[in-house]
Amino acid sequence: MPPAPLTILGLESSCDDTGAAVVRTEADGRGQVLSNVVIGQDALHAAFGGVVPEIAARAHAEKIDLAVERALADAEVPLSAVDAVAVTAGPGLIGGVLSGVMCAKGLAAGAGLPLIGVNHLAGHALTPRLTDGLDFPYLMLLVSGGHCQFLLVHAADRFTRLGGTIDDAPGEAFDKVARLLGLSQPGGPAVEAAARMGDATRFALPRPLLNRPGCDMSFSGLKTAVLRARDQLIAAQGGLYPRDVADLSASFQAAVADVLAEKTRRALDDYLGLSPDLPALAVAGGVAANGMLRARLTDVADARGVRFVAPPLRLCTDNAAMIAWAGLELMRAGHVDPGPLTARPRWPLDPNGPAMLGGGKKGPKA
Ligand code: KG4
Ligand code: ZN
Repeated sequence: MPPAPLTILGLESSCDDTGAAVVRTEADGRGQVLSNVVIGQDALHAAFGGVVPEIAARAHAEKIDLAVERALADAEVPLSAVDAVAVTAGPGLIGGVLSGVMCAKGLAAGAGLPLIGVNHLAGHALTPRLTDGLDFPYLMLLVSGGHCQFLLVHAADRFTRLGGTIDDAPGEAFDKVARLLGLSQPGGPAVEAAARMGDATRFALPRPLLNRPGCDMSFSGLKTAVLRARDQLIAAQGGLYPRDVADLSASFQAAVADVLAEKTRRALDDYLGLSPDLPALAVAGGVAANGMLRARLTDVADARGVRFVAPPLRLCTDNAAMIAWAGLELMRAGHVDPGPLTARPRWPLDPNGPAMLGGGKKGPKA
């Protein structure tokens, strides 16, 4: 018998995007995004060169009700027609997570609805099931400004973390390199655009941790190497020419892509050891927008006969539709109102995985 159709309201506020969305399942069990409202905070943080937690928390508290109202209106679904409220309960910047959790608690209590706490990383990791109907188990590379990890996705509530960054996330490194080179923020698209005209072989930048077994990665040394190369150029010629910016951008991007491609190859080998029927590699997070990275990951997947899935960007970056969908999957798996819902700044998806290092500019990496 097909599962009963469900309509879920999702809330997301763990970093610098205030999101609310309505997702409904069709009779065949596939999900449909009825609305997906994201209220960004870029302008509020622009002057500080990174997300300021206190400013983020206040903006979430101010905007979350508005996001919910808009999401219900866009979906043309009244709260009374919603079956449950799902909310990001961590990991993330605690003030923002609290804003979302308090709002969701109020909505659920007021409307007499079940409440589902969702791990933000599970939201990203389960998105390919919403967009492409992937079967478990699949391999997920989560690569954004705040996260970088490989996850074996076995079920909506079961993940194995194969490895991740031990310092910066790649998006954070793109942003810092953009700042070093005088390019605009967010740095990823700016560095990618500059790299298009550059020579990726001009600067021999390191490929950190490639000589170490496993899937752990490091991007902070790479950023320092760009800083050194830049300073040498400035010392030698008194400044940077556009050619230098392009070549440094291209060399940096190639180094990030090399590291991610090689570590993905290793993670895929671990994953293929599970002998999945329909093997798939999926990617999520803002850095997945990078054309060179997508091309490299496609090649890695093709070489092993594995399907490659990259959800559309608005569902790859932080959004509430992924939280509603993950809530829906958890509800189907029986995880509803398991007790008092608390906001958790740190919440690793894989409780058995090794502890992560560092807090990161955009929040805990988990
Ligand atoms: O997932 P996301 O929107 O937000 C969080 O990190 O939570 O990711 C944003 C990150 C930024 O660091 C941005 O520079 C990076 O994704 N990014 C890119 C590209 N577009 C966005 N990095 C590399 N190439 C791109 N085209
Ligand atoms: Zn995220």
